[in-house]
Amino acid sequence: MIALLAMSLTTLRVAGAANHMDIGTAVNPDFFAEPRYEELLKSEFSVIEPENGMKFDPIHKERDHYDFSVADKIVAFAHANHLKVRGHTLVWHSQQPSWVMNGTLKPTEMATILQDHIKTVVGRYRGKVYAWDVVNEAFNDDGSLRPSPWYNKPGFGYAGQGTQYIEQALRWARKADKRAKLFYNDYGTEEINPKSDAVYAMLKDFKNRHVPIDGIGFQCHAAPWYVKEKWLKSFEKNLQRFADLGLEIHITELDCDLDASTPEKFAQQAYVYHEIATIAHRQPKVTLLQIWGFTDKHSWLSSRKGHGWGMPWDANYEKKPAYGALRNGILGK
Ligand code: G3I
Repeated sequence: MIALLAMSLTTLRVAGAANHMDIGTAVNPDFFAEPRYEELLKSEFSVIEPENGMKFDPIHKERDHYDFSVADKIVAFAHANHLKVRGHTLVWHSQQPSWVMNGTLKPTEMATILQDHIKTVVGRYRGKVYAWDVVNEAFNDDGSLRPSPWYNKPGFGYAGQGTQYIEQALRWARKADKRAKLFYNDYGTEEINPKSDAVYAMLKDFKNRHVPIDGIGFQCHAAPWYVKEKWLKSFEKNLQRFADLGLEIHITELDCDLDASTPEKFAQQAYVYHEIATIAHRQPKVTLLQIWGFTDKHSWLSSRKGHGWGMPWDANYEKKPAYGALRNGILGK
């Protein structure tokens, strides 16, 4: 009876603390004023990450002006509530302001802009953001590098030179904050496949040459129609090869898309959350298990018609079967 009561009082955060993992979620400060949103952030999580607030466009919408208002709110909330902040993201092909995308800038200007951006943003949150997704989603599914304003359109000086631009961004980030942990983050790299092979080759090379890289982020946007036994086995094996490089591993954007809200679908979703958390539990190099939002009320998945059920809490902040399954997985049960 006592054991059952203790179990039901164990939050995700408490379960993670007992199992080498911080538990994180993406947040939007517009919702801090909702009592349940705020209460759950404080009780269930130890890390928060701006879902959008530190991306290039919101924080650097105009060339000579940074807007830190959203990011500052998140950092202040975290500080007041003893949560850690994870930064997302400095170099990405998406969510760029029009002044970067309009094609008028030369590579030398792009270099000055990105260097200043990294120095300014990382520098402002030095000692407050404990880990950064320095570069996000730089590869295509076939393992080639994705076109990006920072790589080759026009790039900041390393177009056609492979992962050199990623290395340079990491070096700038390390210079701006010697202590923050620096991550490469991507989706579709969970299984062993051409994309994860390319990321593995890059990070192995970086580790060999002492390029500043501390970890790898696996986004883990999941769905029951493909997260099955084969996927899970490949995921676990893949984590191990990155762990063997000496990298820290963060699961950065876990969610589980559903196309209907039936008890059967919720059970499938619970299975996915459970199995992914179980693999994280078994891999000591996984130090963060983070979900991409936590309530269906405010999930990016809910903005897509017929896909509003991806989170462990429903739109009324009630726990779904996925919640208990996630917690059990974290606990290794
Ligand atoms: O901020 C503007 C606002 O000013 C405007 O009024 C409103 C009108 O639609 O749009 C607002 O921006 C939106 C922003 O979310 C904030 O709500 C963007 O249009 C919208 O594109 C953006 O979507 C975000 C998406 O990244 C952008 O690519 C999602 O919230 C966010 O969950 C999603 O997160 C990404 C990760 O960063 C990287 N991995 C994949 C993941 C899911 O796509």
